[in-house]
Amino acid sequence: MAPTSLLPRRRVVLLGATGSIGENTLRVIAAHRDRLELVGIAAHGKHRELAVIAHKFGVRHVGLYDASAHAAAKAGGDFPAGTVFYGGPEGLRALATLPEADTVLVAVVGTAGLHPTLDAIAAQKTIALASKEILVLAGKFVMAAARASGSRLLPVDSEHNAAFQCLEGRAPAAVRRLVLTASGGAFRDWPLEKLAEVAPADALQHPNWAMGPKVTVDSATMANKGLELIEAQCLFGLKPEQCDAVLHTQSIVHCVAEFTDGSMLAQLCPPSMTFPIQHALLYPDRAPEGTDRALPLDKAFSLDFRPVEAARYPMLGLARQAMNTGGGAPAIYNAANEVAVAAFLKCKITFLEIPRVVEQTLDAMNHSDPADLATVLALDAEARRVASERIA
Ligand SMILES: NC(=O)c1ccc[n+]([C@@H]2O[C@H](COP(=O)([O-])OP(=O)(O)OC[C@H]3O[C@@H](n4cnc5c(N)ncnc54)[C@H](OP(=O)(O)O)[C@@H]3O)[C@@H](O)[C@H]2O)c1
Repeated sequence: MAPTSLLPRRRVVLLGATGSIGENTLRVIAAHRDRLELVGIAAHGKHRELAVIAHKFGVRHVGLYDASAHAAAKAGGDFPAGTVFYGGPEGLRALATLPEADTVLVAVVGTAGLHPTLDAIAAQKTIALASKEILVLAGKFVMAAARASGSRLLPVDSEHNAAFQCLEGRAPAAVRRLVLTASGGAFRDWPLEKLAEVAPADALQHPNWAMGPKVTVDSATMANKGLELIEAQCLFGLKPEQCDAVLHTQSIVHCVAEFTDGSMLAQLCPPSMTFPIQHALLYPDRAPEGTDRALPLDKAFSLDFRPVEAARYPMLGLARQAMNTGGGAPAIYNAANEVAVAAFLKCKITFLEIPRVVEQTLDAMNHSDPADLATVLALDAEARRVASERIA
């Protein structure tokens, strides 16, 4: 009988197991149990959901960032006998370096996954990285750490995973443009004047993807694409002018790599995160079957592309400005956006005020290049303080 797997079974720690990426990762692991084993899981506070996952996948190592959730999980008796619990930021770091794991999938929203990612890199784990904020904040340090340890960093974000597949083995100088596609988010077809009336519930309706609240609002403003351009620049060693975005409403083509000779390679799959997750978790192997169905090429469908309207998406222009400025500007952009989106979701500012808060924070701060991680973290904290002050 033909062997079912080329590589030994991957032992995976999943940080952010209760989120949207977490849920898709669990579907991939369930579909490929002969190749993937879940050995550790973590979330912020949803301990009951983690208990269900622990039973279903036979997971022994469980982390909860929130102290009261950690205490409740330990006391509650919902978890399988013999569960080892990890609490707080230190718990996430311990899980990221778990000796029995070889792969860590980082899908914690925001930047709480930064130190666990760096620890996992130092421990030479393979990193499957979903949390885009980590590279935007500290890409220079994360990429240098991965180069130094030889740890493999595989992008899970659909556009970057697509770019990885299109660019694999090609020098940055051969790339004329890496074009990431954008769905346009919830308001791509709204009249511009109506954007002043947007409520959080409107921004949380994504036309193509089911995702967590922060990334769904980021899609509506296109801060998401801005963060992704910065992430692409960092992951693939490109110049700002080599990274571009185009509107593509179907979310079927995830990235187009245009080479200097004018040829283009694109990656296509339906808008489901199981495709990039499965690619990253099994790389360089290919799954014998997809977790979700591939595109039905025997049925008619069309693909639309159009330029991004600058007036509708000022957050994309601000991301370009941050990329061109370089230094600490991308980290400031990211921090100010996180604060502004949280304020918008709590109805403290309007949708149109999100870019204003980010622009004012970028204008108010020094953009010099942080020399070390401590300086990046201080810059991040200062940008959050300045953005909160603008909101107040
Ligand atoms: N969703 C997508 O399709 C997608 C696509 C590309 C990239 N991404 C990126 O992937 C990341 C996750 O996105 P998501 O949509 O899955 O978010 P989400 O649905 O909001 O889930 C976030 C996950 O992170 C956990 N978490 C939050 N803070 C934590 C902390 N301090 N320590 C440990 N766990 C923490 C949450 O736990 P609780 O449930 O307990 O709060 C939850 O499991 C984001 O960086 C996003 O930009 C997402």
